[in-house]
Amino acid sequence: MEPHPDAQELDLIVARIGDPGAEIREVVLCAVDGGALPPFSAGAHVRVAVPGGGANAYSLIDLDGRCGSPSEYVLAVRLDPAGAGGSKWMHGLRVGDRVSVCGPQNDFALDAGASPVLLMAGGIGVTPLISMATALAQSGREWRLHYAARTAAAAAYGNVLMGRHGDRVTLHHDDVAGGPLPVAALVRDVAPDTHVYVCGPRPMIEAVREAAEAAGIPHAQVHMELFDAPVPQAGDAPFEVEVASTGQVFVIPPKRTIVEVLEENGIEMIYDCQRGDCGICQTTVLEGVPDHRDVVLSEAERAAGNVMQICVSRAKSPRLKLDL
Ligand code: FES
Repeated sequence: MEPHPDAQELDLIVARIGDPGAEIREVVLCAVDGGALPPFSAGAHVRVAVPGGGANAYSLIDLDGRCGSPSEYVLAVRLDPAGAGGSKWMHGLRVGDRVSVCGPQNDFALDAGASPVLLMAGGIGVTPLISMATALAQSGREWRLHYAARTAAAAAYGNVLMGRHGDRVTLHHDDVAGGPLPVAALVRDVAPDTHVYVCGPRPMIEAVREAAEAAGIPHAQVHMELFDAPVPQAGDAPFEVEVASTGQVFVIPPKRTIVEVLEENGIEMIYDCQRGDCGICQTTVLEGVPDHRDVVLSEAERAAGNVMQICVSRAKSPRLKLDL
C-alpha cells in the first residue's frame, strides 16, 4: 500500500479487550511504553497489519473527547466469518499482544462549518460517528444521530450513546426501537444547509445518496464511508489500462483492481480505503468509459466520466487511458 505522506508506523500493545455488542470485539491499544499517542480527529482511522501481509482499517472511537491527546486507541471489530481472516485474527487478540499500526489518517472528517449535522450509522459503521457525536456535543452545533442495527444486542455502544447524548440519538432495530431506518424521510426533513455523514453498508450509502439528490442537498454536503469491501460483479470482464505518462498497457483481470495491477508493476499512486469511499485514488480518465463502483462521485460526475476511483471502478470500454 502507498500510505499517506504523513502516515506514521506505530508499534502498539493490546491494553484491554471488551465486548460492546454481539460479534463485536473492542480492542484498546496503547503505546508499548505507555506514553502519548499521535492525536486524531473525529472520523479518523488506523490500519492494523494482519497476518498475510494485509492491513485492515478501523475507525478510532473517541467517547470522552480525548482525541487531541490520546493515551489509547479504541477500535471495534465486527467478526466477518466470510472475510479474509483479518477480523478473526483481531478477535483472537489478547491483552499484551503487540500489533503494528499505520496512522491515524482521516478521510472522513467533519466539516469546519456551523451548519446542522445529520449522522446516520449502519451496524459497525457507527464507530467513526461515535467520535463525531462527541466532537459535535462539544461544539454546540445542532446534530442528530440515527443508528440502525439488526437487533439491540448488535447495536454496539447504543446504550452508551443514548446515555451520553439523550434524545439526540435514535436507535433503529428491525424488531423494536424505532423500526428500520427511514432514510428518505430523515434526509428529506433536514434544513438545506445540513451536512449528512453516513457510514454503513453499500445499500445504505446508496439510499442516502439517492435521498440527498432527491432532496436537493448538494453533493458536497453528503459525506460517506463504506464498511464493506467491494465484491466482483457477475459479468466482470478483463480490460486494458494505458498509463499516459509511459504508454505502458496493463490488463486488469475480473477479480483484480486497477490499483492492484498497477502497483505490482511499479506504477506510483496514492490510495487509501480501497472501498471507493475516500476519493484519494481519484484519477483523470483521458480516453475510454469508466464503470463506476465508488460512492464518492455524484451522478453528474459519473455521467461525465472524466474521473474515476481506480481502487474499485472498472471499464465499460475495452481500454482506459489514465492520467498517471
Ligand atoms: S482509495 Fe479510497 S476511493 Fe479509492
